[in-house]
Amino acid sequence: MAFDLERVRARYPGREILWLASTDSTMRDAARLTRPGSVVVAGEQTAGQGRLGRRWHSEPGAGLYVSILLRPRGVTPTLTLALGLAAAEAIAAAAGVACDLRWPNDVLIGERKCAGVLVQLGDAAAIAGIGVNVNQVAFPADIATLATSLRIATGCEHSREELLIELLGAVDRHLELIECRGPGAILDLFASSSSYVRGRRVTVDMDGKSVRGTADGLDPSGFLWLRCDDGSRRLILSGGVRPAM
Ligand code: BTN
Repeated sequence: MAFDLERVRARYPGREILWLASTDSTMRDAARLTRPGSVVVAGEQTAGQGRLGRRWHSEPGAGLYVSILLRPRGVTPTLTLALGLAAAEAIAAAAGVACDLRWPNDVLIGERKCAGVLVQLGDAAAIAGIGVNVNQVAFPADIATLATSLRIATGCEHSREELLIELLGAVDRHLELIECRGPGAILDLFASSSSYVRGRRVTVDMDGKSVRGTADGLDPSGFLWLRCDDGSRRLILSGGVRPAM
């Protein structure tokens, strides 16, 4: 189904919202924007970027692929956590699906990922990239057991425009929350919305090694504490978190 850009523009008059039928990555396109709040949305990405150098599967016409130019309010990881909360809120509003959040950037339906957040910091700006699996009915073999879409979860198609409208509103509200109440408000919200912040048995992959332990809360900057099985307590600054097998 064609993307009805005018419907989105009508809800955000005055905001620069660019549509590209196809691009390599909206992260690169957004780097050329100058006005904070400007948005690039694409119908497909040929080189979609994920976190930790991974690729983001970007099937034509099926997902929402969007990057937003922001003045960095708050730094990563708080900004990443805020964007994940915004994506989950938008998905709940547009598709009626309740999501879990996995530190720092995964939005999950059950144990499968339906959306991801990528933040790239520049000199004076941050680019917030958000990808949502909306109407995919299947995924490539390498991510088939890890990914899901709103369509797979609900059994019906969803409007990418409606989701983008909800997403832009939710991003604005969460950034305002950081501005008005500070990062602590986002950390509290994330901790209460995520099953991965405290008490969950996880494996963390970092620096080519895997460490197993129990998630033990967020530090004041939004990094994740891990109570390791060897008894030590480690602050996870980066890396991938997954359920312990
Ligand atoms: C992740 O979960 O690893 C982050 C995924 C981020 C994907 C989005 S899609 C829109 C934007 N453009 C990209 O190339 N990546 C982000």
